[in-house]
Amino acid sequence: MSTSMRASYFEKFGELDQIKTGTLERPEAGEGEVLVRVRAAGVNPVDAAVARGMLQQAVPAKFPVIPGWDLAGVVEERGHAARRFDAGDEVYAYARRPTVQHGTFAEYVALPECYLARRPGTITMTEAGGIPLVGLTAYQALFQAGDLSEGDTLLILGASGGVGTMAIQLAKTAGAIVIGVASERNQAYMKELGADETIDYTAGNIGEAVRAIVREDIDFIFHCSRGDSLGQSIDTLKSGGQLVSITNSQPGVRDDISFRYVFVEPNARQLKHLRELVDKEGITMPVSRTFDLGDTAEAIREIESLHTRGKTVITP
Ligand SMILES: NC(=O)c1ccc[n+]([C@@H]2O[C@H](COP(=O)([O-])OP(=O)(O)OC[C@H]3O[C@@H](n4cnc5c(N)ncnc54)[C@H](OP(=O)(O)O)[C@@H]3O)[C@@H](O)[C@H]2O)c1
Repeated sequence: MSTSMRASYFEKFGELDQIKTGTLERPEAGEGEVLVRVRAAGVNPVDAAVARGMLQQAVPAKFPVIPGWDLAGVVEERGHAARRFDAGDEVYAYARRPTVQHGTFAEYVALPECYLARRPGTITMTEAGGIPLVGLTAYQALFQAGDLSEGDTLLILGASGGVGTMAIQLAKTAGAIVIGVASERNQAYMKELGADETIDYTAGNIGEAVRAIVREDIDFIFHCSRGDSLGQSIDTLKSGGQLVSITNSQPGVRDDISFRYVFVEPNARQLKHLRELVDKEGITMPVSRTFDLGDTAEAIREIESLHTRGKTVITP
């Protein structure tokens, strides 16, 4: 095998157009690690934040940085004592390491095997590569930080993007009643995913739209959008209700509700559970666009708009 690989990388924080694609040294699987041939890597809004240096206080970086935290791919080699997977196994991972350096927008990545789970078998490799970060985010928000129960009414603010796509489907498998919020062009998409009701945030006040759908106050708000959507809808949450946000750690909300902020964590056990839900419950991850490795900057620019439907995925 060649000792080099194609990868996208940047050598300092700043504008996205400084992200290049070229040849770097191929990593090797160290102790407890596996080398994975990356076949698909989901693109996430956080990739833009990392490249712009907005996370440098929270997550240290070593240059050159290869961006990308999602992957689906094939185990190529195993390092010393790494025996959970065999060469040829198809896996997926949310590969956020303590230091930003060796990301997944590359042909190969070496990872401790504790990050990996076998990928879902009923969807394509490209679809699987879009699931880990958004799937874990939705799962940890609804069932770990929150406690979504059967029969709960759930309002998802930003329900047609990567996280929202997973949240609608996970909530339906748990027996919740789901109201999804996105723009006009995504109303039918949210229904196809299983949303019971949908709201177009461009058509008026979200809170008033919720009141027109349900008479009683709702049980749970999952906040995965920016803008004023939470301010418009927070009064529809019942006293004692649950609010989980992934976009605002200090929204300054009423003190009669339970509030939690989630910053998604790697968790291979939960990835295994998500695989079972995909394979047995038919959860999907629609991929709206794929990009070549050479178009990484464009892919990150597109996701930064925060109007992607489903996922965009790089296929190295
Ligand atoms: N804390 C964490 O661990 C964590 C993890 C993942 C993501 N995030 C953050 O969560 C957000 C969502 O991530 P994502 O990957 O799902 O993004 P995405 O794929 O870009 O989806 C954004 C969603 O927000 C909707 N939206 C945009 N403007 C809105 C508004 N004013 N009111 C209501 N909805 C609006 C979009 O619908 P339209 O396209 O129809 O406008 C779309 O459904 C991002 O800000 C991301 O940085 C945080």
